[in-house]
Amino acid sequence: MDTFKAIATRRSIRRFTKDPLPREVVERILAATVQAPSAKNYQPWRFVVLEGEHHDRLATMMLEAATSLKAQGVNIGSLEGTARAMLGAPLTVVVFNTAPPPEVPAEAHDDWHWVMAQSTGGAIQTMLLAAQALGVGSLWICDILYVSSAVREWLGHPHDPIVAAVTLGYADEAPKPRPRRPWQEVTEWWSAD
Ligand SMILES: Cc1cc2nc3c(=O)[nH]c(=O)nc-3n(C[C@H](O)[C@H](O)[C@H](O)COP(=O)(O)O)c2cc1C
Repeated sequence: MDTFKAIATRRSIRRFTKDPLPREVVERILAATVQAPSAKNYQPWRFVVLEGEHHDRLATMMLEAATSLKAQGVNIGSLEGTARAMLGAPLTVVVFNTAPPPEVPAEAHDDWHWVMAQSTGGAIQTMLLAAQALGVGSLWICDILYVSSAVREWLGHPHDPIVAAVTLGYADEAPKPRPRRPWQEVTEWWSAD
């Protein structure tokens, strides 16, 4: 698929078919993902692919967190809807941002994490477009952050911040394009003349 077509046709998918994703399709998506640029080519991303009961466990953790937080009167935003959307899908990739390299002084660690967050963001967008090019639907998920410490422990990455999760699967819906402000409205152009 042409890049512009993949960009134009990608949507956040929140209803997936039960069909499993063939492993080779997921591998192609991951192989494309790691082609993303990153600061100093540090490639700070780490991925954990959760399928089957592991995927369902993550969605259930999020659903349970939604129930408990709601009972405490906490505003949970889209958490519950996201968890329900995930439950119908075959697979989720959890995206970690690895800790700063040892040569970065401790006082610069926060800044470095911001830089690395940009790199992981680029990787996630690459993942979404690669999935789209292969006819696979995707949902970029930050609601995983409601359960991030529990997930970090569970997946054996206690010290790596979670950036997001991406649920992948075959779409069982065809959403219309969501609105965007035109580029002219969000761009200042200081031309030479
Ligand atoms: C950083 C980030 C976090 C997001 N987190 C969630 C999420 O937790 N749950 C969800 O349903 N959608 C999430 N989305 C999807 C957005 O809601 C979606 O991209 C936006 O509404 C535009 O729709 P579109 O992707 O179909 O163009 C997230 C998107 C981004 C970029």
